[in-house]
Amino acid sequence: MRGKFVTFEGGDGVGKSTQASLLERALRDLGEKVYLTREPGGNELCEQIRELLKVSPKMDRTCCLLLLFAARREHFVKTISPLLERGYFVICDRFYDSSLVYQGVLEGIPIENILELKRMTLGDFEPDLTLVLDMKAELSVYRLRGRHLIQDEYDAMNVEEHGRLREGFRKIADTFSFRAVLIDAEGTKEAVHSRIFAAVEKKFSLGATGSKLCAGGCR
Ligand code: TMP
Repeated sequence: MRGKFVTFEGGDGVGKSTQASLLERALRDLGEKVYLTREPGGNELCEQIRELLKVSPKMDRTCCLLLLFAARREHFVKTISPLLERGYFVICDRFYDSSLVYQGVLEGIPIENILELKRMTLGDFEPDLTLVLDMKAELSVYRLRGRHLIQDEYDAMNVEEHGRLREGFRKIADTFSFRAVLIDAEGTKEAVHSRIFAAVEKKFSLGATGSKLCAGGCR
């Protein structure tokens, strides 16, 4: 049976990576085959493209968009698609919604152009479920500063820019409501994980009553 493709989206500092790992463990605890990956990146070549994007912060924005979709296509064809064929839950930390928000909403590349690239590279493939993590812009900035993650262009964004990102991702949840769920990402990581797990359980009828994950306390 084909697996499920679950994506995490949201601005920087909202806790996507932590929550993606917690979901990975929870699904494994239920006996599912799970693979956790991320974008940009996810396999050797795509991680090299990620490095290229990281070391070239002044790259032309269209060039950056093309590289993101080149990496995405490679990731999709070589990693995501084969794992889904083998029945895996593939959890991906960011996918093409991030391009719509960062390159589209934030950098002003026309959304139609990004959607056209999406069609060229992924066809009508869509995530089965997109978890959009939402929190106040002030809080995500505070959390990034607290974790000393101010290291690249996006990490150095101010509250106003984080606010635009937040609105962009909220619009994604609205526009793609057939696959996307807005998750309140404020509160403890255990509380946020419970909301996420409830959304996953509801979408896929996992048949469990709750995650065993945090029974002994989350790491
Ligand atoms: P990460 O910090 O979530 O790993 O993501 C790295 C940065 O890349 C993050 O600031 C958002 C940015 N990004 C884009 O601008 N467009 C994209 O399509 C993706 C996947 C990430």
